[in-house]
Amino acid sequence: MLDTEFYRGRRLRMTPGIRALVRENEIRPADLVMPYFVAETDDKSFRKPIGSMPDQYQLSLAELEKQVAAAVKNGLTSVLLFGIPKEKDELASQAYADEGIVQEAVRRLKDRFPELVVITDVCLCEYTSHGHCGMVSKGGEIQNDPTIELLAKAALSHVRAGADMVAPSDMMDGRILAIRDTLDENGFLSTPIMSYAVKYASAFYGPFREAADSTPKFGDRRSHQMDPANSREALREAAADLDEGADILMVKPGLPYLDVIRQLRDTFETPIATYNVSGEYSMVKAAAQNGWIDEQRTVMEMMTGFKRAGADIVITYFAEDVLGWLNK
Ligand code: PBG
Repeated sequence: MLDTEFYRGRRLRMTPGIRALVRENEIRPADLVMPYFVAETDDKSFRKPIGSMPDQYQLSLAELEKQVAAAVKNGLTSVLLFGIPKEKDELASQAYADEGIVQEAVRRLKDRFPELVVITDVCLCEYTSHGHCGMVSKGGEIQNDPTIELLAKAALSHVRAGADMVAPSDMMDGRILAIRDTLDENGFLSTPIMSYAVKYASAFYGPFREAADSTPKFGDRRSHQMDPANSREALREAAADLDEGADILMVKPGLPYLDVIRQLRDTFETPIATYNVSGEYSMVKAAAQNGWIDEQRTVMEMMTGFKRAGADIVITYFAEDVLGWLNK
């Protein structure tokens, strides 16, 4: 005769119904943000596959609209836009041009899908000839204060075009304050800022840099993005951005930093986002294409992991796929 004085956890795992009843974390369609790369091109049907990111494309405005239309039909509620301009220069002029590619994409999407939450990435690296996130001094240093002025101009141009939210990803100091001030002075008091507050200098951004054509021509991003070894510093960065006016805090990348998401969740009341970045996407795609893992189950486990760690919002190139799976 068995003594029943031990924990029978299996009782609550016996049927799908019971498992669903006691499930603690779940990803919802509205938690997902899908990133898109929009290219400035005269070719209306431009749709260029990104080699290192299977099933992701650089899209013309018309192709972007088509793809978003299908995704919205599937339940997509938010997008994050990245632009690939025709011309790049040292001042990143296209980053804050009123007729720049992201600004045009925002107008187009908001016109067609007024309910869609259109978020823009605010950074200079896709627009500078050298691929750095800021102005570079003669000695090769990325200059902080001149850069934040341009970032604020870029954010304002996005919001003027109709963006619902801006997401600065550059990791310059003081940029949240500069952007908040600029938006407020121009009457955009109600436009939120999602700060890439805790952004690590990560090898996982490799495929993105192919996608956005933003690999730095020299040096790296370690003078502004954070050292992967640090988590106390993450709290310091997050607190600073909140003080400066950030409404949502992001941790990026996602998978290697679940502990950091949890620490932010436990420390701050604000919504927390995480960015399941390009390298995390490419690893799963490559393994799945080789038949080494089950893509759907792997991705859903990752999504649940982000929620369990404490993320409210998940930015992921899998967003369209996840919606499809959730709808089944
Ligand atoms: C722009 C930016 C980057 C990513 C988002 N915004 C690249 C970088 O910092 O080099 C990375 C996203 C990804 O890897 O999916 N600064």
